[in-house]
Amino acid sequence: MPTNRGTDPAEIAAEKMRFVLGRFCSGVVVVTSMGADGPVGFTCQSFASLSLDPPLVSFFASHGSKTWPRIRSVGWFCVNILASGHEEISGRFAVSGADKFAGVAWRPAPSGAPVLDDVCAWVDCTLEAEYPGGDHDIVVGRVRSLDASDDVLPLVFYRGGYRSLR
Ligand SMILES: Cc1cc2nc3c(=O)[nH]c(=O)nc-3n(C[C@H](O)[C@H](O)[C@H](O)COP(=O)(O)O)c2cc1C
Repeated sequence: MPTNRGTDPAEIAAEKMRFVLGRFCSGVVVVTSMGADGPVGFTCQSFASLSLDPPLVSFFASHGSKTWPRIRSVGWFCVNILASGHEEISGRFAVSGADKFAGVAWRPAPSGAPVLDDVCAWVDCTLEAEYPGGDHDIVVGRVRSLDASDDVLPLVFYRGGYRSLR
């Protein structure tokens, strides 16, 4: 049995975490909803399918996010799975305080949350649960409706940059 289980976890630098965990390739989503003052949204890559029965999905929201608390208070949201070519959209929805929807085309999902034009797929949810996850919250959404476009390739995020499956 190894005795030295490595350095004290607190000593693992965020930089090392990003360096190593950036090897985990993922898609990119924009989580949207309709707040009291109009549409809101933020870019997220920690999205995953959690459960088929019941139909649940999950993502992790940073404690630093200004948008997540606004979506939480609404209680429903749409996960937009970005397509290849959506790099600008991804960057735009990652800037805190920006007018993120200016000039962005969208239509309402059944919940009323924005579905951005030309996404790969969308997943309309109600907020099911939230759990503490260090400097993020673990969010669970119950899927209420969803759909996907045929033959639209996803935007991929790998080692801190955007990639395409083309
Ligand atoms: C590719 C990419 C992936 C991201 N993934 C996440 C994530 O999984 N969770 C999160 O809370 N923020 C994530 N962010 C950062 C948020 O998008 C950003 O902090 C947020 O949009 C800031 O705006 P807000 O204050 O309006 O929420 C990501 C940003 C980028 C560019």
